[in-house]
Amino acid sequence: MHNVEFADIAVVGLAVMGQNLILNMNDHGFKVVAFNRTTSKVDEFLQNNAKGTNIVGANSIEDMLSKLKKPRRVMLMVKAGEVVDQFIDALLPHLDQGDIIIDGGNSNFNDTERRVNNLQQKGINYLGVGVSGGEEGARFGPSLMPGGMTEAWDSVKHIFQAIAAKTLKGEACCQWVGSGGAGHFVKMVHNGIEYGDMQLICEAYHFMRQVLGMSNRELSDTFGRWNQTNLNSYLIEITANIFNFTDEHGYVVDRILDTAGQKGTGKWTAINALELGEPVSLIAESVFARYISAQKSARTHAETIYGEKEHKTIEASSEILHDLQQTLLFAKIISYTQGYMLMQQASKVHNWSLNYGDIALMWREGCIIRSVFLEKIKAAFDHNPQLENLLFDDYFKGLIQQSLSSVRNIAAKGITFGIPMPAITAAISFFDSFTTKRLPANLLQAQRDYFGAHTYEEVNKPRGEFYHTDWIGSNSNVSSTSYTD
Ligand code: 6PG
Repeated sequence: MHNVEFADIAVVGLAVMGQNLILNMNDHGFKVVAFNRTTSKVDEFLQNNAKGTNIVGANSIEDMLSKLKKPRRVMLMVKAGEVVDQFIDALLPHLDQGDIIIDGGNSNFNDTERRVNNLQQKGINYLGVGVSGGEEGARFGPSLMPGGMTEAWDSVKHIFQAIAAKTLKGEACCQWVGSGGAGHFVKMVHNGIEYGDMQLICEAYHFMRQVLGMSNRELSDTFGRWNQTNLNSYLIEITANIFNFTDEHGYVVDRILDTAGQKGTGKWTAINALELGEPVSLIAESVFARYISAQKSARTHAETIYGEKEHKTIEASSEILHDLQQTLLFAKIISYTQGYMLMQQASKVHNWSLNYGDIALMWREGCIIRSVFLEKIKAAFDHNPQLENLLFDDYFKGLIQQSLSSVRNIAAKGITFGIPMPAITAAISFFDSFTTKRLPANLLQAQRDYFGAHTYEEVNKPRGEFYHTDWIGSNSNVSSTSYTD
């Protein structure tokens, strides 16, 4: 009798990420069933990219499920949002208790929480897995951030850790993140940080182009050199390549319209930071910078009203380039500090017990923000798993102290020469606020109490005791605490 070999996992959705993940799984010896709503894509895949592999196709959900080992593992690589719910609904009638649905899209973690809760009640296992690294990562080793039902992790761990990127020490950039929507939350923060890293690089570029008058060749060389320092990262590396890239019309970067797109994960990070009360200003400014870039016609009109800025060119000396490099390093530390503050707060609120060293390890290779820098974050949390804030770590303290005067110099010059630097200035403002024991919020509290009897706490009194002053002699002793929280 013909011996049927059941497959290890099915992947639904044959866009480039889905196809590449399947090929990656196949390379690692896993048997994969490929399925797509438009089934002609399955045949096309089998006849082209998957030709000569062990990959099998399916022409319906039933067909796909019948080819899988139990418990059945079905990974969705489809557009985040409604499509995920539609596939879950289509799968549900055919699944058995203990089967596992895995969502590998950029889903909003709130959706993942909802799906985990719904499916738990039905006895179906659900995992929300952040996948980063673009097409190449998916093909040769992505960073994977799995969360959801802990019970399901054991059953997919060997597959995911095999296909994930590895550090030089051979550690898989895929560790269990936490319950519910934790995996997608951490992926969201990864993307927010990605927005910040990209915006910082763009601000440095703007400064180098307008104030230092550097050519594309010089920009490429400089970013290439920085990639040999502690700024070494995928995003710096591709930036060096971008400035070197020409086609028959010249430098491609120079003819790209200056309006940034986005799919929403940076915005979600900023929204979440506002909701959780965490001052993630650098990512928020990076999202706003994309919005303002998108207002091209209003900007063009505004420039005609206020006139083009006269950029004074100063020499691209090694000192100023050193200051810029230090500025990027400083701002990056602040951005990651803020991202970690957000994750620490979310972990408390959602009871996730996030492992911050593991998160840095997962981001070390494979993903878009991969960098040498992340090794230092991992080291900081390995050294002290209870580290309250990245800025309290000795290594980062050293870097901050060493770069502070450079940042002040660049930020001041940027403002003087009219170079918008929302992320860099957010970084230095955050640092100055966070490291100031007494901020002017005493006045703010006085104002609130003045116009709305919102009360205030006093310097030499125990915390939690609230006072009100009758600022205008109204003789009223009504405070607003009864109607505010
Ligand atoms: C990744 C990326 C990816 C993201 C793109 C585009 O980790 O591989 O974060 O998930 O979708 O980078 O994001 P925007 O369109 O929002 O810039």
